[in-house]
Formats: sequence, C-alpha cells, structure tokens
Amino acid sequence: MGAQAAATTNTMSLSERADALEEHMMHELERVVTKSVFSNLTEGKVEMEGGATLQAKHPGKYFNMREDPRLPPMPEKPTLIDYFRCRFASTNHLLQSAALALKSGHEEKVVLACLLHDVAVVSFIRCDHGYWGAQMIEPYVDEEVSWAVKSHQALRFFPDETVGYGYPDMYTKYFGPDYQPEEYIVEEYKRARKHKYYMTSRLICVNDVYAFDPNAKVNIDDFVDIVGRNFRQPEEGLGWDSSPSAHMWRTLMRPTRYL
Ligand SMILES: [Fe+2]
Ligand SMILES: [Fe+2]
Repeated sequence: MGAQAAATTNTMSLSERADALEEHMMHELERVVTKSVFSNLTEGKVEMEGGATLQAKHPGKYFNMREDPRLPPMPEKPTLIDYFRCRFASTNHLLQSAALALKSGHEEKVVLACLLHDVAVVSFIRCDHGYWGAQMIEPYVDEEVSWAVKSHQALRFFPDETVGYGYPDMYTKYFGPDYQPEEYIVEEYKRARKHKYYMTSRLICVNDVYAFDPNAKVNIDDFVDIVGRNFRQPEEGLGWDSSPSAHMWRTLMRPTRYL
C-alpha cells in the first residue's frame, strides 16, 4: 500500500475501510460479483447499484453468472450433505439437536426434523426461519417433517409442561423479560396446538439445544444414513432439479449471480 493510500485508510471509518477492502477484492476477481438488495437491507440500507454504474466501476469486466470464486466449490450434483459441508455457516447446533433426538430414541422423522429445523438460519436468514426452512425442504421430505420445521417457529415461544418444555431462559436473556411474540405467532401456535403433527414439532423444541456447547463434537457423517432414507435427494443434484424450492438451493450454491 502506498503512503497516500495508507493515509487515506487511516482517516477512514471502520465501515469505509470494509467497503474499500471489498471494492479492492472485487477488482481482483475476474468477474464482477454483485450483491442483492437483501444484503443491503440487512445492513440498514435501501439501496442497489444498477448494471451501468457497476460496469463503469469495473471497466472491461463482465458480471458473474456462475459460481462465486470466493466460496467453497460445490460438486456438480450436490447433495444435502454437500450443503452441510460447503454452505451452512454453522452446523453444530443442528447436529447437537439431532444427536439428542437420536439418543432419546425418537423415530427417524423426528431426528431429521431436528437436523433440519434451523436450516434457514444457518444458510441465509434468521427472521421467520421456520417458514423459510420448511419451504426449502418441503419437496424432499415427508410432510410431517416440513410441517414440524415450519411450526417450531411459533411453538418454541410457548411452554408445554406435559413434555417438560418451558419458555427458554435464553430467550429472556436475548429478547428481554418483556418480549411477547407477535400476533401472527400466537395465532400460528393456536392452530399448531390442534394439528395432527403437533408433537413432532414440539419435539423439535424439546431437542432444540438452547445451551449451545461449542466443544461438543457431532459429525454430519453420523446422519448420512438417516438423511439417505428420509430425504429424497434429486438425481440432478439439489438445486438443479425442478422442485418448487430448487431455486432456493441454487441461490445458496451461487448467491452472487447477476441474475
Ligand atoms: Fe429455530
Ligand atoms: Fe434451534
């Protein structure tokens, strides 16, 4: 870095520095990788850069329309396990929950539901993650599993003493003692309570490990057989099939394609 660049860096705020670094990184890449509006929204900005502006910033370069070279490469025909290995930012919580369900002797459907309950959180979004996660897996699992994943969004806020589930202490710590779930969650809870698959979803909450143990070692390999028996892996590769949620997987595979 030259003296002038160093001086400029010194007067920059932290976020300006991060932007400059990102800009620098983009110039190093062969193709221009683009950010979707959602990435900006989560940073508190309602913004997008149009194609012409972006191309002017990177003369002579094309936009990326394939894999993002900064991310771990995925096999040609990815499986759910490949997403665990190459795209999910953190899998310990899911693995621990599934291990607990397995140890408690629950059937495979419940173990799978636990293994996938926060699939949306670890791959792209926190808010309403139960709904997003359920949609991602719906075409590939038994309806009981996706329903359970969807409904844990609401059920986890409400105790069920019959199975020893109380309101998580962690939520009081995270959201404050006065936090009340919104109306749509309360309504969802009331509907779920009467549903035939209620207990499957409730078991997600019971096995949801709220006290995360960073040292516990559970490996996805322990669940390969259960996934194999209960998750309909598409032959073309997860994301390259034509299911109603294939695009969600494809987007995770190549999140910075221009279109
Ligand atoms: Fe969750
Ligand atoms: Fe969870």
